[in-house]
Amino acid sequence: MVATIFNASLFEGKTALVTGGGTGIGLRTARELAQLGATVVLASRKREKLDKAVETIEGEGGKAFAVVCNIREEESVREAVAAAVEAAGPIDLLINNAGGQFPSPAEAINSRGWHAVIETNLTGTFQMTREVFTACMKKRGGSIVNVIANIWRGFPMMAHTGAARAGVDNLTKSLAVEWGRHGVRVNAVAPGTIASSGLSTYDPKFQQAAQATAAFNQAFRLGTEAECSAAILFLLSPAAAFITGETLKIDGGDSLFAPMVPPAQHGKMPPFGET
Ligand code: ADE
Repeated sequence: MVATIFNASLFEGKTALVTGGGTGIGLRTARELAQLGATVVLASRKREKLDKAVETIEGEGGKAFAVVCNIREEESVREAVAAAVEAAGPIDLLINNAGGQFPSPAEAINSRGWHAVIETNLTGTFQMTREVFTACMKKRGGSIVNVIANIWRGFPMMAHTGAARAGVDNLTKSLAVEWGRHGVRVNAVAPGTIASSGLSTYDPKFQQAAQATAAFNQAFRLGTEAECSAAILFLLSPAAAFITGETLKIDGGDSLFAPMVPPAQHGKMPPFGET
C-alpha cells in the first residue's frame, strides 16, 4: 500500500490508462489510483516490467491490466487503446507519463537522436491522447494529465526533451480549449529532479549532477515519486473540476532559483511518502 491523502473510494468505478506505468512515477501513480478504487491499465514497451507492476498492484488488492505499446507508432497506440478498453472498459483518466531522453550537448545530438526523443515525448503523447479522446472521452468526458519537466529555463544538456516537453505544455493548453466542450480537462505536471527509479537509468556522473540540484530548491532535497503522484491525482480528481490547461510545478521552487538568495539546508520540508 502507498501513502495517500485522498479518500479511499475517490476513483471507484473509473478506468485509468497510465503510459510508462511499469516503473517510477508512472507505477507509483498507478498504485495510488488502484488503491483508491480505479481499474488501471499500464502501457509501456516492456512486457516483463508491466507484468511485475500488475503483480504489485494486484498484491495490494487493486485491479490492473497491462498492454504492450510503443507510443511512437500510431498503429500500436490504436491497438493498445482498443485492448485497454476491451479489458477494463472505457478510459476516464489518461496519464501520459511515458517518455525518454539522453543527456548530450546540443551540438552532439544527431538527427536520429533528436527525432527519437521528439517522437516519443511529443508525437507519442499526442498520438495516445488523440486515440483515447476519439475512442472514449469525446463521448463520455474525462481527465488527462501530461507529465512534462521544468521547461521554464530551457533544458541545457537535454535540448531535445526540453523542446518536446515545452511542446506538450502548449499542446495541453490547445486541447484544454478544443475539448472542454466534451467534458474533458487537460492538465500537466512539471516535476523537478525526482528521486525516482528512472534516475538510476542514467550514468553515474549524470546521477551525481541530478543529486546536486537538491541545493537549488527550497526543500533542499530531491522530490519523491509520491509527491508527483499526489499532484497528478489532485488534477485528475473532481477537486480540480475548475482547472484545465494548467501546468503544475512539482519542484520545491527549483524553477524560481535566485542566486542572490540561495536555498538553505534546514530540514523543515520533509518528503511526503516513500521515494
Ligand atoms: N517509454 C519510453 N518510450 C516509450 C515508447 N516509445 N512507448 C511506450 N512507452 C515508452
